[in-house]
Order: sequence, then structure tokens, then C-alpha cells
Amino acid sequence: QETLRGAADEQGLRIGAAVANGPLSNESQYRDVLSTEYNGVTAENSMKWESLQPSQGQFNWSDADEIVDFAQSNGQSVHGHTLVWHSQTPNWVQNLQGQDLQDAMENHINTVMGRYAGDVESWDVVNEPIGDDANLRNSFWMQELGEDYIAEAFQIARSADPNAKLYINDYNIDGINAKSDAYYDLVSDLLDQGVPIDGIGFQGHRVLGDVPSSLEDNIRRFAQLGLEVQLTEIDIRIDTPASDSELEQQRDNYEEMVNACVSVNGCVGVTTWGITDRHSWVPDQFDGQGAALPFDENYNKKPAYYGILEALGGE
Ligand code: G3I
Repeated sequence: QETLRGAADEQGLRIGAAVANGPLSNESQYRDVLSTEYNGVTAENSMKWESLQPSQGQFNWSDADEIVDFAQSNGQSVHGHTLVWHSQTPNWVQNLQGQDLQDAMENHINTVMGRYAGDVESWDVVNEPIGDDANLRNSFWMQELGEDYIAEAFQIARSADPNAKLYINDYNIDGINAKSDAYYDLVSDLLDQGVPIDGIGFQGHRVLGDVPSSLEDNIRRFAQLGLEVQLTEIDIRIDTPASDSELEQQRDNYEEMVNACVSVNGCVGVTTWGITDRHSWVPDQFDGQGAALPFDENYNKKPAYYGILEALGGE
């Protein structure tokens, strides 16, 4: 029986997992599955601004370091999440104005990317800058700095760590729709202006039965811009308790998503937003929904696991 990691390695693809510090510290099964089945990790929360720099100039590295150390001990690559976002950013940042906000952004990117240079292979430099209405999100970043904050963040990031791959990342852009069209235009413009952007992440938080049929075509059109694409945060939620047939459908949905990536040169990998249904953001956020990940609450492999494995060419 091959592992996800073994199958992905053979394809030269990343199979990542979002990692939470609690179970990483406390559950040996979590560590075992993470190191056996995944060749990449993303910190689920501990590389966000509120975790790394909760008050101005005071950096707290311990949780992020724990994840980076684990990855290094286990030969895994780290995808950094995330530098510039409107959410999980402390009030002290949101209250800054003009040049002060610009300076804080520059300092945060330089400090964080500088610390992890060589250890973090790729970064979500700007997360979710377009809203559900397909316009640039009217966040405090936009309000204070205007749309140039996006280009500036990427420029700062490139010089902070010239070897890191720099990503823009969002949800509901895995299918071809108004929002992903807006990304296509935005990213094309940025590239035309010489802004150093290397990749786009489609988060991929999905509902059972709702994998966009245009996923593969959408990956392809971004890859044709010369970008790397990753499915950065896959989970597929089900009304709980999930029936056997729903778990089978979930298997097909996972297989279809991973297959879309495998089918396009330039799609470099997929990450599941967690490992086990025991620890997932879904039930906290969506009442009555869950069972979204490839391992169940007791770390048993679900049908979804085999869907991913098959898409990766494993058996
Ligand atoms: O750490 C505190 C803890 O001290 C406190 O007692 C507890 C009580 O609420 O909250 C804990 O913080 C929670 C944190 O997760 C860590 O568990 C926050 O309330 C909770 O809001 C936070 O949720 C995270 C969410 O991002 C916040 O936006 C989820 O774990 C995380 O999975 C989710 O991840 C996002 C990606 O970053 C971006 N894309 C969407 C994705 C899903 O929402």
C-alpha cells in the first residue's frame, strides 16, 4: 500500500496539509500521519500576522518554528500562510494610517520572510484581496494604501527572500467565474507591470457535490500565464453525520479535484486544510457540517483518502 506522499513524490507534486500546533504537540498519531502521508505543510494559523506579531515590534516565533522544525526533520516543504490579509491581523495594524501602515507591512514581510528564508519555499504574500463581488476588497489595506499595496507587497517579498515562490491566494476561484476572471485580469496586469508574482493558490473549500467542472480549464489558463498553481486549502464538507454514499461521493470529488491538478503542467500540488476530521475548522464555522478531510476522527483512512491516492497514481 503506497502512501499519498510516496505517490506524490513520484509525480513530483506537493501533497500538503494545514497543520495546527495543538495536535502537533499533543497527538503522536497526528505526527505519524503528517510525516508519513504528506511531503508539505502549511501552518493553519501560526504564520498569520496576529500569531507572529501580535503587538508592534514583538514577534512570537514559537508556534511557527515548531511547524518549520517538524517539516525539516521530516523532509517536508513549507508553504507560508500568510503575510498580508484583512483577517487575523491585529487591531494595531488596522489602526495605522498611510505611511505607517506601509512601513508596518514592509517591516512585517522583511522580518518574517527574512527569518524563514531558505526554510519556507513559498508564501501566500497577499491573501483574499478580491471580494465576492469580484472587485478589489475594500479592506483597510485598500482604504489606506490603495490598490498598489498588492504590487508593493510582492516587491517587498521578492527582495526579502529572492528564492521564495510568491503566491496570491483566494477562495471560490477554483472554477471559472466572475471572481476568478477578476483574478485573471489582476494577475495579468501585475505580470505586465513586472510585479514578481510566481503563483496563484485556489483554496478549494468545497461542499459535497460541488466541484466546479471548469476547475481543470481554470488551472490551465493561469498556468498559461506562466504561473504555478496550487490547490492550497482543499476540504469538502458534508452534512453530518455523513452516510456511506456521501463518503463515496466525497471520494469522487477529491479524486476529481486532485486529478485536475495532476492533469496540468504547472499545477505543482494540492494541500488539504487539515488531516483529520477530529481537527477541522469546518464544524466550528458551519453548524451541522463536517467530515471534510481524508482521515476520520480516529485517523482511519476515509474513501476520500483513496480518491486522492488514485488521482496521484498510487494504489
Ligand atoms: O487561539 C485562540 C484561542 O486562544 C481561543 O481561546 C479560541 C476561542 O475562540 O480561539 C482560538 O483562535 C481560533 C483560531 O482559529 C485557532 O484555533 C479563532 O477563534 C478562529 O477564528 C480561528 O479560525 C481559523 C480561521 O482561518 C480564521 O480566519 C481556522 O482555524 C483556520 O482554519 C481558518 O483558515 C482559513 C485560511 O487562513 C484562509 N482561507 C480560509 C480558511 C478557512 O476559513
